[in-house]
Amino acid sequence: MYILGMESSCDETSAAVLRVEEGKLAIASNIVASQVETHRLYGGVVPEIASRAHIEAVSGITREALDAAGIAPQDLSAVAVTAFPGLIGALLVGVNFAKSFAFANDIPLVAVNHIKAHVAAAYLSEVTLKPPFLALVVSGGHTSLFDVAAPTDFREIGATRDDAAGEAFDKIGRVIGLPYPGGAALDKLAYEGDAHAVRLPSPALQGDTLDFSFSGLKTAALNTINTCRQSGMEVPRADLAASFTEAVVSGLAVKTEEALLRTGRKTLVLAGGVAANSHLRRRLTETCDRLGVRFVVPPISLCGDNGAMVAAAGYYEFMEGRFADVSLNASALDEPETVYSKKQG
Ligand code: KG4
Ligand code: ZN
Repeated sequence: MYILGMESSCDETSAAVLRVEEGKLAIASNIVASQVETHRLYGGVVPEIASRAHIEAVSGITREALDAAGIAPQDLSAVAVTAFPGLIGALLVGVNFAKSFAFANDIPLVAVNHIKAHVAAAYLSEVTLKPPFLALVVSGGHTSLFDVAAPTDFREIGATRDDAAGEAFDKIGRVIGLPYPGGAALDKLAYEGDAHAVRLPSPALQGDTLDFSFSGLKTAALNTINTCRQSGMEVPRADLAASFTEAVVSGLAVKTEEALLRTGRKTLVLAGGVAANSHLRRRLTETCDRLGVRFVVPPISLCGDNGAMVAAAGYYEFMEGRFADVSLNASALDEPETVYSKKQG
């Protein structure tokens, strides 16, 4: 069977075709139209520009995804679309397109949670992966630990109480003059600096909690930069990148290890845009090796937003018989009470 996956929650418009044979998932096509260059001019995502760019790209990339997979709309068993969370105007473009596409071609529609989709990217790179496992999702909008009992059954056991890890990376990157999004550039720059040169607080909250807080770390890094600038000193960009990365990576690793010990899970999945971070990948590899835990992280091409992960998450919703209809709406929230504009029967 084939599933079309559509993603438009932030600044990537993506359409992908997933082929599933005997429960084995394979990517038949995965077309991603990134808006990064457009938003770079403003140093961050401008929601209205994002919505307009999605409108311009969505039909073309869907056609491309079907052509690249060598199939016609009639070959599809379902259309899966990210319905929440994300930028509302951006989400509405994908949801509206997917609804029309499903209706016009008489194909079942499936609503997907973007966070679950990031985790589902792991099934695409590790075909033998099966829950239960622990998942650390780190992206531009989220930092959460989930105990995953089944592909659609997630229990959040830890989360950031303020900013997300990716947001913090992007903010510090921007202030030290790196191009948007700062995460990837900061990752590289960190290799040139001393990770212990600048003292910064940990984002791992103290006490009996698996939660994080990135706002104190972000403020401390910004204060260091401002103090340097005010006293006419050059900002030690590489040292700051290395120390900031070390604080983020250590904080995430400490709580992830604690979560593995508490849940007794023997597999860790790392997912989301920040899962591309080389320092984080290395640290969690070490942690898992030490604990005898299997470590699964998608390739970098599947860490950022893409339609293939949406199709994968959609496949599992499909298997549970959870379908959407033309009353499907979008929501900016992590856990909307409903994404349907009329009561489901
Ligand atoms: O998952 P994603 O593509 O979008 C959201 O759902 O938010 O994540 C984007 C985030 C951005 O904050 C970006 O800076 C960050 O992922 N990111 C990285 C790296 N590559 C992307 N952060 C740290 N290191 C990287 N190598
Ligand atoms: Zn994302």
